[in-house]
Amino acid sequence: MSGTESKVVAITGASSGIGEAAALLLSERGMKVVLGARGLDRLEFLVARIVDAGGEAACARTDVKRREDLSELVKLACERYGKLDVLVSNAGIAPISLLDDLRVEDWEDMIDVNIKGVLYGIAAALPVFRKQGFGHFVNTASTAGHKTVPTMSVYSGTKFAVRAISEGLRQEAGDKLRVTIISPGFVHTNLADSMTNPEVKAQIVGTMDKMAISPDAIARAIAFAIEQPADVDVNEIIVRPTAQG
Ligand SMILES: NC(=O)c1ccc[n+]([C@@H]2O[C@H](COP(=O)([O-])OP(=O)(O)OC[C@H]3O[C@@H](n4cnc5c(N)ncnc54)[C@H](OP(=O)(O)O)[C@@H]3O)[C@@H](O)[C@H]2O)c1
Repeated sequence: MSGTESKVVAITGASSGIGEAAALLLSERGMKVVLGARGLDRLEFLVARIVDAGGEAACARTDVKRREDLSELVKLACERYGKLDVLVSNAGIAPISLLDDLRVEDWEDMIDVNIKGVLYGIAAALPVFRKQGFGHFVNTASTAGHKTVPTMSVYSGTKFAVRAISEGLRQEAGDKLRVTIISPGFVHTNLADSMTNPEVKAQIVGTMDKMAISPDAIARAIAFAIEQPADVDVNEIIVRPTAQG
């Protein structure tokens, strides 16, 4: 496998929050980043910022609900930089609410983005990683993927699923591919923007204002996992505010 300084890392959900922080930190550390999200303007702005700082970056409009978009993102990395070392499947939404509200479209959206988006990433990158003989999946789950609470049932379910799928992938991956689950607690990002129930949103924003940590903390955990030697597979990192119960 190539050295850390020349790693090529594709990141979904790179237009804000944790994905954006990871893009900036990994490029500061010499990695080439290939950024995907639906908001192309924000991605292009981020690419320009990275390039201005002396880094290497590319981007493509990527909706993780569309399998072909993930294939295109992986293809962009391989065509532009000759390989893909890491896929960070980070895109996620959290339109949480009580099950009694029957916000079925929100449930479907969370399943499509949070679970199927990760699966489409695996479908796009796994054959490339197998062919290369190296590769690393980093999948963003959540502390809600360890423990659920009222309003978070479906969101939690998607994050439990990300952890189960990632662990299964790790067991099937063999001795050449690495798999890391990143489970953040409350982090200051735009995640509440995806919340459709105003009362629940206000409550989450209040909790975030009280205790959430910087997305840089999660970016550092992602960098830690990536920077380990090829024979060291960091399987899961939970990073949460000290104040989070
Ligand atoms: N913030 C927290 O407290 C927290 C805690 C635990 C886990 N997480 C997880 O961390 C991950 C990143 O979220 P964040 O907190 O950084 O929130 P964020 O600031 O809202 O970032 C979410 C990212 O996902 C992208 N996205 C949303 N839907 C997408 C789609 N269909 N296709 C492609 N990209 C899509 C968004 O970009 P576009 O809108 O431009 O597409 C954005 O770049 C998520 O998986 C989230 O569940 C967050």
